[in-house]
Amino acid sequence: MKTAIVYASNHGATESVVNQLAGLLAGEPAEVINLRKNKNFNPKGYERVIIGGSIHVGQIQKPVKQFCIRYGNQLINTKLGLFICCMYTEEQASRQFELNFPEILREHSSSNKIVGGTFNFEKMNWFEKVIVKKVAGVNQTISNIDDSKIREIAEEMDRN
Ligand SMILES: Cc1cc2nc3c(=O)[nH]c(=O)nc-3n(C[C@H](O)[C@H](O)[C@H](O)COP(=O)(O)O)c2cc1C
Repeated sequence: MKTAIVYASNHGATESVVNQLAGLLAGEPAEVINLRKNKNFNPKGYERVIIGGSIHVGQIQKPVKQFCIRYGNQLINTKLGLFICCMYTEEQASRQFELNFPEILREHSSSNKIVGGTFNFEKMNWFEKVIVKKVAGVNQTISNIDDSKIREIAEEMDRN
């Protein structure tokens, strides 16, 4: 099955989830597409598409949002998976997921997941560090990526 994993990542957390996921999916190797580097990627001809991004001040990356809007009609004819990386958990995380992916795609998707995230202080600029310190009270790199959620995406996408 021809599979594309499309994503955007600010500090590498989503990218590492994508690479892990690509290694777990059965069948023909998935193509991994960074939407910031490949702005014109068209999912035509792909039978499975997984879309991932991370949340920064409530918003997923713009290229991810634009991809969902531009190719919405095509995406509802594929086996679809959606995930976000973020540091909020439970209801706040679910709300962010709902606000950042269109309802039509969420309802069509075979796998909707929140996989956790990483505050990567080595990669943040000074302004991001200030925001994270202020809002989350964190001043060093921490990660709560949930590998079991990544395995669940692969299982749900491999299911018939
Ligand atoms: C400046 C900044 C703002 C953030 N805002 C949010 C937020 O609003 N909600 C949230 O759940 N996580 C937030 N996060 C956490 C990121 O979603 C998390 O670090 C994620 O793993 C980043 O993934 P990436 O490295 O692929 O971009 C924020 C992180 C930074 C650095």
